Amino acid sequence: MTETTAENKAVLDVEMIRKDFPVLAKRIHGKPLIYLDNAATTQKPRAVLEEIRKYYEQNNANVYRGIHELSNRATAAYEGARARVAKYLNASAPEDIIFTRGTTEGINLVATAWGEDNLKKGDVILLTEMEHHSNLVPWQLVAERTGAKLRFVPVTGDEGMLDLADIDLMLAEAKMFAFTHISNALGTINPVQELCAKAKAAGVATLVDAAQSSGHQPLDVMSIGCDFLAFSGHKLCGPTGIGALYARAEMQEHMKPYQAGGEMISTVEFHSSEFNVPPHKFEAGTPNIEGAVGLHAALDYLDQVGLEAIREHDFELVNYAKERLTEFKGIRIFGPTEECGGLVSFVFPEIHSLDLATMADQQGVAIRVGHHCTQPLHEKLGVSATARASFYFYNTRNEIDNFIEVIQKIVKLVR
Ligand code: ALA
Repeated sequence: MTETTAENKAVLDVEMIRKDFPVLAKRIHGKPLIYLDNAATTQKPRAVLEEIRKYYEQNNANVYRGIHELSNRATAAYEGARARVAKYLNASAPEDIIFTRGTTEGINLVATAWGEDNLKKGDVILLTEMEHHSNLVPWQLVAERTGAKLRFVPVTGDEGMLDLADIDLMLAEAKMFAFTHISNALGTINPVQELCAKAKAAGVATLVDAAQSSGHQPLDVMSIGCDFLAFSGHKLCGPTGIGALYARAEMQEHMKPYQAGGEMISTVEFHSSEFNVPPHKFEAGTPNIEGAVGLHAALDYLDQVGLEAIREHDFELVNYAKERLTEFKGIRIFGPTEECGGLVSFVFPEIHSLDLATMADQQGVAIRVGHHCTQPLHEKLGVSATARASFYFYNTRNEIDNFIEVIQKIVKLVR
C-alpha cells in the first residue's frame, strides 16, 4: 500500500487504502463523510471486520477451559493475539502483555495493582499538566487511598510543550512518573525515551500512555525503556473494548491482582486463594477474545500499510491543516509549531466551538469539540472548549481543503 519517492520516503496510496474502509464511502447529511475524529476512535478496515466474523463462524468457544477443539482454537487465537501485541511493542515476551478493555483500564490496573502495593504516605506520583483524565483520576484515587501526593510537570502555554527545567528535581522526589506519549488535546510528542531514562536513573517507575501514538508509528518498549505502556485497540483500527498493557515482568511480580474471579487463580479454598501466574493473574473472567482477534488483525493490517509511512502521513496532514487554519484571522491554534502528532485543536474568539462542530457536522465533517478529557489543561489555557481535527492514514489533503471550505462558510455566516 506504499510507494517510495526519490528521497526514499514511503508514500501511502490513500485512494486504494480508503477502499478498505466501508464507512468512508458513506454520505452524512447528504454530504461525503470527512472523518476527522480519529483521536477519539478510528474506522475499521474490512480485514478486521472479516477476522472477527470468521472467529465467530469458525472458532468461537471459551478460552483455556475446554479440551475440545473449539476451545483450543479460541485459546490459540487469544494467545496468538498476545504474541502479536508483544511483537508490535517489541516486548521481551508475550507474558509482558496484559489484555485490558483499553488504555483507561490499563492505567487503572497499574494505579491500583502496582500503586496499592508500592505507594505509601508522602510518596510522589509525578504526572504532567497535559494528561487525559484517564491518566489523572486513577492516580487521584490511589493517592487518596495510600496518602501519596500528586505533582505535575508544567505545560508551557498554547504551544503545549512540557517545561522540563525542573524535571530532575521533580524526579528526585517521585516514585512513579506517568505521562502521555502524544497529547490528545495538543498533539505534543513528548520525548519518551529521554524521560524514561531520567526516571530510571532516579529509580522512578514509568508509565507511558500510548493511546495517541500506538498505531500511528512503530513502538518499541525496549528502546523507550518504560516499565508500563498502555494503549487501546479502537484507536488503531481495532475493535472497542480491547487494549493492552505492557508491564515489565519484574513489575508484574510486585503487583496485587486487579480484579478477582475465574482464570486469575491457581487454587481456591473457601477462605483463601492462590493466584495464577502473570499475566493471567490480571485477567479475571472470560476475556474479550473477539477483541483480541480484531486487534491482531488490525496490527497485521497496519504493518501492511506501514507504520513509518503512517507517521509521515500524520505529519504531512497536520502541518498542512495548521498552515490552512492560520489563514483565519483571530484563530487560536494550540500545540507545537514544529513536530506534532496528527491532530490540531483551535478556537475562534467569536464562534463557540460547539456551534462550529455542529455546523461542520451538517456538512458531513466529523470533528470533536469540548475539553477532550483534559479539563485541567483547558482551564490552564483559559478556554472551556476547543474544536479538534484529528487525522489518520486514510485522510487526504483534499479532505482538509474541504474542511477549511466548510469553516470559511461558517465564519462568513457568523462574522
Ligand atoms: N481520548 C479520546 C479523545 O481524545 C476519547 O477523543
